[in-house]
Amino acid sequence: MSASSLPPIAQAFQLAAGFAFTQSVHAFVQLGIPELLKDETRSTDAIAAQCGAHPETLFRFLRLLAQSGVVELDGRQCRLTAAGRFFRKDLPGNITQDLELMTYEPWQEAWNNLLYSLRTGEAAFHHAMGEEPWEYFRQHPEYGRPFNEWMTALSQMNAQALVDNYDFSPATTICDVGGGHGFLLKTLLSHYPQARGILFDLPYVVAGADLEGVADRCATVGGDFFENVPRADILILKSILHDWNDEKAVNILRNCAAALEPGGKILAMDMVITDDYNPVGYFYDMHMQVMLGGRERTQEEFSALFARADLVITRFIATGSPQCILEAEKA
Ligand SMILES: C[S@@+](CC[C@H](N)C(=O)[O-])C[C@H]1O[C@@H](n2cnc3c(N)ncnc32)[C@H](O)[C@@H]1O
Repeated sequence: MSASSLPPIAQAFQLAAGFAFTQSVHAFVQLGIPELLKDETRSTDAIAAQCGAHPETLFRFLRLLAQSGVVELDGRQCRLTAAGRFFRKDLPGNITQDLELMTYEPWQEAWNNLLYSLRTGEAAFHHAMGEEPWEYFRQHPEYGRPFNEWMTALSQMNAQALVDNYDFSPATTICDVGGGHGFLLKTLLSHYPQARGILFDLPYVVAGADLEGVADRCATVGGDFFENVPRADILILKSILHDWNDEKAVNILRNCAAALEPGGKILAMDMVITDDYNPVGYFYDMHMQVMLGGRERTQEEFSALFARADLVITRFIATGSPQCILEAEKA
């Protein structure tokens, strides 16, 4: 599959005007039109009346969104397409929080500096904003809070995939390294009452943890995974390695290897890219570059990365979610 179903000039134009399409789907969400429509067909005038928009301008706006496949228009009758349903906040798996982040000034400023990344191989965010995102988020909670909420929403989508595809019954201590506010760990501990947990992240992040129902079996530890990691027999790294370049990712993996109890396992969760058509995977590959100097990786690249930390990947476990589980142990 490829993106070539549009005429070449339309493809080229959509690329050139991409910023306007981001703003358009953002306005579509801000007006609440996806939840107004749900699975029904409504006239554009009725939609305008309900969301307080100018009727004729809204019709022309929806006509543009119809060209991008977000809605279908039959005359002035409008309904959501399958792609448009991903903007319904009331449905699981919607991408509205991710969309919201994409419209934030620091994100856009980082992408405005893409050429810097292309010329240096470094993160454009730091170049543009003067800080790494984590420090920037700490200083600007108006951006940090929605980022952590989006991470929690992603974990809500992926936690079940981990529970369904990995047996944690032998685990005594599970540490979620860079575990954010702890949704994944909370889910695991509620499935495995024999296990104890450690939520490890930057101090200001663990301060916002929500471990309701498992707090008596779960410690929170604030720290820096480039320095050290708490000891455990299972160390989880979900959406961590793709944030960093190879050198920094190896640094984290070495600290994890040093913290593993005998016979322990590291479980990384990340996308594993291949040569197949995968616009989301390749977008995130470059987004990680721009934001943090990070990258998505292939199976071979992951194997080489772990080997540099004297670790061997024992299994790549597909989960049915975009993320794969990489199980590793000391070589
Ligand atoms: C992409 S988020 C993933 C969060 C969580 N694992 C998840 O999947 O929802 C990366 C996490 O790494 C944490 N982090 C960044 N730098 C860190 C450091 N030096 N030490 C510990 N945690 C760090 C961030 O605060 C953030 O929670």
